[in-house]
Amino acid sequence: MARGRFIALEGGEGSGKSTQAQMLVDSLVARGLDVDLTREPGGTPGAEAIRALLLDPPGEGWGPEAEALLFAAARSDHVARLIRPALESGRWVVCDRFVDSSRAYQGGAGGVGDEAVQALHRIGSGGLRPDLVLLISVDPATVASRLRQRDGASSDAIGGRGEAYHAAVAQTFAAMASADPEGFAIVDGNGTPAQVHERIMAVIAPFLDEAS
Ligand code: TYD
Repeated sequence: MARGRFIALEGGEGSGKSTQAQMLVDSLVARGLDVDLTREPGGTPGAEAIRALLLDPPGEGWGPEAEALLFAAARSDHVARLIRPALESGRWVVCDRFVDSSRAYQGGAGGVGDEAVQALHRIGSGGLRPDLVLLISVDPATVASRLRQRDGASSDAIGGRGEAYHAAVAQTFAAMASADPEGFAIVDGNGTPAQVHERIMAVIAPFLDEAS
């Protein structure tokens, strides 16, 4: 049986990834494909338990290395129990964030470094890469206004970090995408959800041709 396709959506806070992930899945299902929609951190019971520890940490919070290890542990469970079995049975997987979030947040902004994050990913998840990463890129001013509406004062331990941290996340994402133009597609995330969805469908058209 043909292996399913693995598509990850990445971007900073308020980039509209989750809305786009759902719209993408709906379009793929409408074309008759079997698709799993999942997210990180999370996706399996174990990884969802680690998610709660990461986003609402006990005590004084995690140091950068402990945080990177916890994300890698959550991902390891998610890959072993959900993502690989789905792909091997021919299903498509659409994932709201994957290892490139760890590379951008913990590796770049958190200072753990890309090599260390990639090493953890090799140990935890056999280095699994998506077939395609959709990096949703939105103007900083638009993001700021979306986040004010969405989170108010209640963002989580990572989303609530300062401007410099999130600027470093954005810069690391941009650098990763330009270093791997085959693996990443930068999608303009400005405009209505329908407009962004149309751009995404144009980018994944070659994968759909192969699948039909
Ligand atoms: P989530 O509620 O999914 O945020 P968003 O809606 O912005 O995607 O929370 C995930 C948070 O965890 C988000 O701030 C990004 C962060 N994160 C990392 O720091 N490293 C990772 O590897 C992943 C997957 C997420």
